[in-house]
Amino acid sequence: MKPSIYLKAGLFLSISGLIVACASAPDYSGNTDSRWANFKNWTKITENRTSTGDPTGFVSTVHKGRDGYRDVYVNDIGLAVIQGTAPYNYPAGTVIVKEQFDDLAAFEAQKPTDLTIMVKLRNGATPDAKNWGWVAGYNAKLEETNAFCSGCHSIATQNDFVFTNEDFLKQHY
Ligand code: HEC
Repeated sequence: MKPSIYLKAGLFLSISGLIVACASAPDYSGNTDSRWANFKNWTKITENRTSTGDPTGFVSTVHKGRDGYRDVYVNDIGLAVIQGTAPYNYPAGTVIVKEQFDDLAAFEAQKPTDLTIMVKLRNGATPDAKNWGWVAGYNAKLEETNAFCSGCHSIATQNDFVFTNEDFLKQHY
């Protein structure tokens, strides 16, 4: 018997376990885009609201699905609009960040596993998507065109492609 083999195997297993554990936590370190780097300092419009389920009936399996929990942050440029009343037309420079949690326990512990972002671009940038750009993760790059994101968000076309606004929150949470 060579204990060193077992030692090595054990070490390997604990290191891979550590990697798996780290992979499930969001990495809020590698972002180089200042447009959303400090979103944690913005207004959390879901503060004191437990936002979960599938109030629109459209969430499907995205955004952690109907069992997921979410927090939505907005920067100062879009704040008055998102907290205002219809029509919700966001100015260029608005950034909306959605933190996603697997379940209630993760939400209560404030341990998100994922994040999606919408950035309102200059006029004429993406007319089919009301000039929104899309980011699939804190460290991801902005995509001016993302048919997956914009296709589903176009359901909220009356509200400038944004589901979560003051009316939505009042109605559902
Ligand atoms: C299948 C439909 C669907 C797809 C695909 C989708 N979303 Fe959403 N998204 C929603 C719904 C529905 C909400 C409202 C949240 C809820 O149900 O509580 C939402 C909310 C958001 C919000 C918060 C602002 C808002 O509109 O409420 C952001 C930001 C967001 N999504 C970004 C993205 C990005 C980026 C992508 C692509 C990587 C994406 N979404 C793909 C359905 C979708």
